[in-house]
Amino acid sequence: MLAAAREVVRVCRELATCSEEPGVTTRTFLSPPMRDAHARLTEWMHRAGMSIAVDAAGNLRGTYPGASPVPPLLIGSHLDTVPHAGAFDGILGVVLGVALVDLLGGRRLPFPIEVIGFSEEEGVRFGLPFIGSRALAGTLDDEVLARTDKAGTSVRDAIASYGLDPAGLPAARIDSALGYLEFHIEQGPVLDTLGLPLGVVTAIVGQSRFELTFTGSANHAGTTPMSARRDALAAAAEWIGIVEAEAVDVSDLVATVGRIEVEPGATNVIAGRATVSLDVRDAEDRVRQAAVERLLAAAQRVAAKRRLSVDVRERLIQPSVAMDHALTAMLARAVERSGSTVHRMASGAGHDAMIMAARTPSAMLFVRSPGGVSHHPDEAVHEADVAAALAAGQYLLEDLTRHG
Ligand code: HGY
Ligand code: MN
Ligand code: MN
Repeated sequence: MLAAAREVVRVCRELATCSEEPGVTTRTFLSPPMRDAHARLTEWMHRAGMSIAVDAAGNLRGTYPGASPVPPLLIGSHLDTVPHAGAFDGILGVVLGVALVDLLGGRRLPFPIEVIGFSEEEGVRFGLPFIGSRALAGTLDDEVLARTDKAGTSVRDAIASYGLDPAGLPAARIDSALGYLEFHIEQGPVLDTLGLPLGVVTAIVGQSRFELTFTGSANHAGTTPMSARRDALAAAAEWIGIVEAEAVDVSDLVATVGRIEVEPGATNVIAGRATVSLDVRDAEDRVRQAAVERLLAAAQRVAAKRRLSVDVRERLIQPSVAMDHALTAMLARAVERSGSTVHRMASGAGHDAMIMAARTPSAMLFVRSPGGVSHHPDEAVHEADVAAALAAGQYLLEDLTRHG
């Protein structure tokens, strides 16, 4: 199994070179390097006996036929990345799926297996995550398709300019499946701290994403008295401090301002406008919602005190999602039978499984993140842990073959 794991790690690192920027890994929705990533994965999928398609949302879909044409087992994750990403977030789950099919060595299971490389999960290009898995869940509506990126290109136009037909989106939808299985790096410190290779995911925490624009007035940095300023960047900075303090105060809550854009953005000009992102997460939806309310009210207070305005745009409200009980129990049994310790845990990161769970029983298996590092070039995996995940995956396939 270690040889197969080594090949999985090698392919993930090779795919990491498919990037919009040389020397780092950045691959967003339907960007040109996505075509290159598809081509490299397609080669291996073909060799493993899969037929390949790219659906209208740009999801790469490899189907390995079963002994009978019943609903498939879906194994997948996302192929897009955050800017300056590591080599394993999302990609590991796709490559591991192909490796599991390859390990069958041509043997047919009673059910087909469809390995899916989702086209977009991170929400980098359009500020909205899960575009790929929403297409399979059938929830990619006109509002989403009309979202535009910084260049003013809509999701619909991005699909068309990639050479795909948005009219084909309904056909991308999954009608029925045996279930959905996602292997993913943990992206946090829990398994590394416990010294465990694998984690069985019980639930994925909910998340709220917003964009806030503080508007004041630009003016000369040298001649404008402090008392006469309507400084948008100073207002945003004061509010960002409030965001951090709120998250520190409320246990288990996490809140992040990850992006800020300032206009006009010159050293000697007071900022007239500052746009910031907000990402709030908690396992308890009501805790998350209450925190969001407090933080948005605080933004209004800071703006009013400084004679500014603040505009709030909701980007995503995603409730927390429990994984399917029966499939997760089977996965835990497979982990145990394959010789690894079963550790059940919630996921602080969002995943396509939270979208797929609306359509089919879904389960996730985490692979340890050494140092808990992710969304960073130093993101890594241990080959032995990937081998443990492959072994657990094989036991699960056997279990599904016996019990279906
Ligand atoms: O942001 C997340 O939780 C995931 O990495 N997309
Ligand atoms: Mn991610
Ligand atoms: Mn991910």
